[in-house]
Amino acid sequence: MKNILLCVTGSIAAYKVADLLRLLQQENKNIKIIATSSALDFVSELTLKTLSHNQLCTDNNSTGLEHINLSRWADIIVVAPLTANTLAKISGGFADNLLTQTILAADTDKIYIAPAMNTQMWHNKIVQKNLKKVLKNNKFHLIAPIKDTLACGEYGIGKMAEIKDVVKIIIKKKQQGLKGKKIIITAGATIEPIDSVRFLSNYSSGKMAYAIVSDCLNQGAEVLIVEGKTDNLPNPAIDKQSKKRLKIIKINTAEQMFNKVMENIKTCDIFISVAAVVDYSPVNPATNKIKKTNKNIQIELKPNVDILKEVASLSDRPFCVGFAAETENLQKNATAKLKNKKLDLLVANDVSKKDIGFASDDNAVTLFYGKETKKLPKNKKTIIAQQTINTMILLYKQQK
Ligand SMILES: Cc1cc2nc3c(=O)[nH]c(=O)nc-3n(C[C@H](O)[C@H](O)[C@H](O)COP(=O)(O)O)c2cc1C
Repeated sequence: MKNILLCVTGSIAAYKVADLLRLLQQENKNIKIIATSSALDFVSELTLKTLSHNQLCTDNNSTGLEHINLSRWADIIVVAPLTANTLAKISGGFADNLLTQTILAADTDKIYIAPAMNTQMWHNKIVQKNLKKVLKNNKFHLIAPIKDTLACGEYGIGKMAEIKDVVKIIIKKKQQGLKGKKIIITAGATIEPIDSVRFLSNYSSGKMAYAIVSDCLNQGAEVLIVEGKTDNLPNPAIDKQSKKRLKIIKINTAEQMFNKVMENIKTCDIFISVAAVVDYSPVNPATNKIKKTNKNIQIELKPNVDILKEVASLSDRPFCVGFAAETENLQKNATAKLKNKKLDLLVANDVSKKDIGFASDDNAVTLFYGKETKKLPKNKKTIIAQQTINTMILLYKQQK
């Protein structure tokens, strides 16, 4: 499959097509774009033309038989974002612009739709009826919208699916390098109680771990996440098949994380420690809230168990991958950790930089394995996760 026809309609999500284009281009696809005149109110003709490296088709430059030519040229047609308006037109068989004409002229089994709209619009019975019609009668493929805070400020279903998921679904990458493998991934930050209302923790958001989980699922693995405090992240499984292969256990403290990991480690092939486990915890957390006074107080801390080191020292140990957050001497500290903890792969990132690491969507890491290092320059965490997992699979296969 090479030719993708990307159809853009007038939703606030139209600006995301720039990212969608970039990811599809990274997959070496030929892309042509159709934009409705309303879409061009949201994203400029110049932007689309420049980014597509190819034809931008609009109602103004259509040559007459464009709808037939485009529908034959395309191996896949994806309408992203799809407005309630264009959905209604398609379900009613209207053909009053280039986009709807092309859809009517195309084989329906190659059409993917990614709706995006306000949550009340989405739940409106008319919209749902139109949707059912195109899914049932025409067998279009739905890339379902997700629940989140929407551009209008309301919360609910209606946000267009994440771009990376749109790409995964339309390209249906058959990468199954981890098929049948059981993987435990720790995620987020542990929280160590000081008293009944306060705790020690860190800024980890769980985003990197979830990107890793998502890629492992995409590669066919069965994944158990043992997770502490994370941001309100969407489920990392993008389809029903992946969801069936995912289990999540929530914990608070490092000790609880350790116990849950150990309970499940025997049947695990690969252990990936992404969580930012708090290194120390209060020796005697107070059962009630510590009262405020004007005096200094001291909280005695004890070192927490090093979960990764314990797992890597097991006699029948799984393949072990660690993540290290460093603020200085990255190379030296990472090499020492790889050796001391006897890891198969260490992913080190410099969290002193504000635009990468912890809560950011981007990251830049260096992979350390054996005597080798591989730098993965700044990119979306989802892309860094894919590159990391690809290397991990190669190393894992070499070892087996
Ligand atoms: C600021 C703004 C944002 C909009 N966002 C959406 C949206 O996300 N989804 C939607 O279905 N309609 C949205 N609309 C309404 C569409 O733009 C409108 O129905 C338009 O006629 C759609 O044209 P098209 O389907 O031909 O592209 C929005 C309108 C405005 C003014």
